[in-house]
Amino acid sequence: TKHTIKDYLNGRVEVGSQVTLEGWVRTRRDSKAGFSFLQIHDGSCFDPIQAVAPATLVNYQSEILHLTTHCAVRVVGTLIESQGKGQRFEVQAERVEVVGLVENPDSYPVSAKRHSFEHLRTVAHLRPRTNTFGAVARVRDCLSSAVHRFFHEHGFLWVHTPIITTSDAEGAGAMFRVSTLDLANPPRDDQGDVDFSADFFGKAASLTVSGQLNVEAYCLALSRVYTFGPTFRAENSNTTRHLAEFWMIEPEIAFANLSDDADLAEEFLKFLFQAVLNERPDDMAFFAQHVDKDCITRLEAFVAASFERMEYTDAIKALEKAQAKGEKFEFPVRWGIDLQSEHERYLTESLVGRPVVLMNYPKDIKAFYMRMNDDGRTVAAMDVLAPGIGEIIGGSQREERLDVLDSRLDELGLSKEHYAWYRDLRRYGTVPHAGFGLGFERTIIYATGMANIRDVIPYPRTPGNAEF
Ligand code: 4AD
Ligand code: MG
Repeated sequence: TKHTIKDYLNGRVEVGSQVTLEGWVRTRRDSKAGFSFLQIHDGSCFDPIQAVAPATLVNYQSEILHLTTHCAVRVVGTLIESQGKGQRFEVQAERVEVVGLVENPDSYPVSAKRHSFEHLRTVAHLRPRTNTFGAVARVRDCLSSAVHRFFHEHGFLWVHTPIITTSDAEGAGAMFRVSTLDLANPPRDDQGDVDFSADFFGKAASLTVSGQLNVEAYCLALSRVYTFGPTFRAENSNTTRHLAEFWMIEPEIAFANLSDDADLAEEFLKFLFQAVLNERPDDMAFFAQHVDKDCITRLEAFVAASFERMEYTDAIKALEKAQAKGEKFEFPVRWGIDLQSEHERYLTESLVGRPVVLMNYPKDIKAFYMRMNDDGRTVAAMDVLAPGIGEIIGGSQREERLDVLDSRLDELGLSKEHYAWYRDLRRYGTVPHAGFGLGFERTIIYATGMANIRDVIPYPRTPGNAEF
């Protein structure tokens, strides 16, 4: 197999070996002493390797002196210990083949100078070549393999839930329709409503908002399961924390209650962030230097902290107390409200100073499937709030009692027929069970300190934007 720049820089290849480097030029510097220094990257690690090209190479004048940022090259030469500062190894080039030039370097949209993230979003196909987006891609990959590693080490099965569905998993209606009907002139029923029986699936189908309902069925046979895939929300929220297409990780555990769920969430998040600290120190050093100086200390504090568990009702009391003492909230606090990010920030940053698992929310602001508490007005829901970002996990113990589930469906005006298969799970061998959803992009924001969720997914989909 071929070696990568990571292998060369980590001393996995013997000094003095003949090597072939394939990659892209980051920068070129020419010295008067008759050499050009090429910094070359191939994506395998943050740092480029330096190739030293002597002016005696046959194509030195004709090609090497014309190399600009992101030209593709193949360098054949000898790996040597570097005399210069800043790197241990470099390649003494004996041949530099130009594989692909960059046309019109002056107007190249990702030339070596600094570009704003706004500009780079307009060239999402070229931005992976930049330092920042290469680092984001590696951290994203590191986190996704850590997700699978964690669950497999803990006896969970990965279940592939469908992307096209006819079930509304959150009962919230924020779904993208999937249809082959002629939108300009759809068939209509007697009432004048669109007649989906004539549609591809014979009823109204959508892109999934969550794999939860489907994975619950697998949980109630296989005990510990999880999903990890894309989910879709047609909510018109143009914020730095929302995407119309985002990836979600949803574990589900049987014979478990809300407290077991919170334990799992805590262990899982710490495992993920420890993996980033262990495996991507190069990229994290870059983020700490150029994006968010606190990102490494934040992760270290996160993995060392024990999460604070707090009742929703107590959180409201604390917020009301702060409000009475003059803390200014844009959205006034009272029992029953859904917490806004200003409230979440106050709790995690000012009040507690570490991650908070907020539990037992008012039933009226939560989904139909959450387990009703004995007080009759709260449900066994939890959100994990992290300092600096707010909600990254939403989860709950599920309502396993058919009669209680049915009265919730009635109360919310949801159709029992629509949820018939889900109700079956409560009729045939039901058990207490619980799970949660972790927003994958919010996890990456937290790890890297990147400010906008559009910059931690390769091709962001937001209202008005599905370019590329
Ligand atoms: O709180 P949510 O809506 O929970 C569910 O979907 C449950 N079915 C999960 C479960 O219990 N299995 O979403 C879970 C997480 C949120 O905490 C947030 O991190 C993320 O998904 N999320 C989004 N991330 C980016 N863009 C959006 N529009 C998001 N909506 C939710
Ligand atoms: Mg939520």
